[in-house]
Amino acid sequence: MAPLSRGMLIVIEGLDRAGKSTQHARLCQSLESQGRRVKRMRFPDRTTPIGKSIDAYLKGESQQEDHVIHLLFSANRWEAAAQIRNAIEEGTTVVIDRYYYSGIVYSAAKGKADLSLKWARDPEIGLPRPDVCVFLDIAPEAAAKRGGFGREKYETNAMQKRVRELFYELIATSDGLDICVVDAGRDVEEVEKDVMERVKDVMKQPKMTQPLTEIL
Ligand code: TMP
Ligand code: MG
Repeated sequence: MAPLSRGMLIVIEGLDRAGKSTQHARLCQSLESQGRRVKRMRFPDRTTPIGKSIDAYLKGESQQEDHVIHLLFSANRWEAAAQIRNAIEEGTTVVIDRYYYSGIVYSAAKGKADLSLKWARDPEIGLPRPDVCVFLDIAPEAAAKRGGFGREKYETNAMQKRVRELFYELIATSDGLDICVVDAGRDVEEVEKDVMERVKDVMKQPKMTQPLTEIL
């Protein structure tokens, strides 16, 4: 594979229990085995002070007003933005487990009139724009059957169902989100192969010879 002058920005998205962590790990390993430098990241990053507040909220240990928690999730990305940009500029590929797409749809899924997809998206403007976002698509019923579901705040069937609808709305209504959909209800290896294919397609695109852009 031809070397890229900059790293790629790749995002893995999906419902809770869609298999994001598994696919994230496998994609990072294959990219490394192809000789690329890889930085693994995830949002929320629960290690920072803001991330610790988010963690407490998700575990039900603290309460936050819905707009406030939304902005904390966004701030948690902003505090990592320079790090992402620098890594990519020096040729490292950054692979992130969840990014602003989750940020938008999970908040909007709460169904508040004053917390629309548009309102939710505004604080994300200016963050590094992904080269590709792979949306691991799974039916909420199938996700719920996987281990560990139901521990955190948003892991309810009603919420997951709405999140999936909003992911589809996001994909259908906005250009330039760089999302591709992969059926995640299959064997891990099949999903992995598809994810890698999507990433390889993007590697060939002309934008990969240009500097990383920003979310508009
Ligand atoms: P995790 O399961 O990937 O650790 O994410 C924790 C939860 O946080 C998950 O239900 C999705 C949700 N979330 C948001 O609501 N907003 C965001 O910006 C992000 C990154 C995640
Ligand atoms: Mg989760």
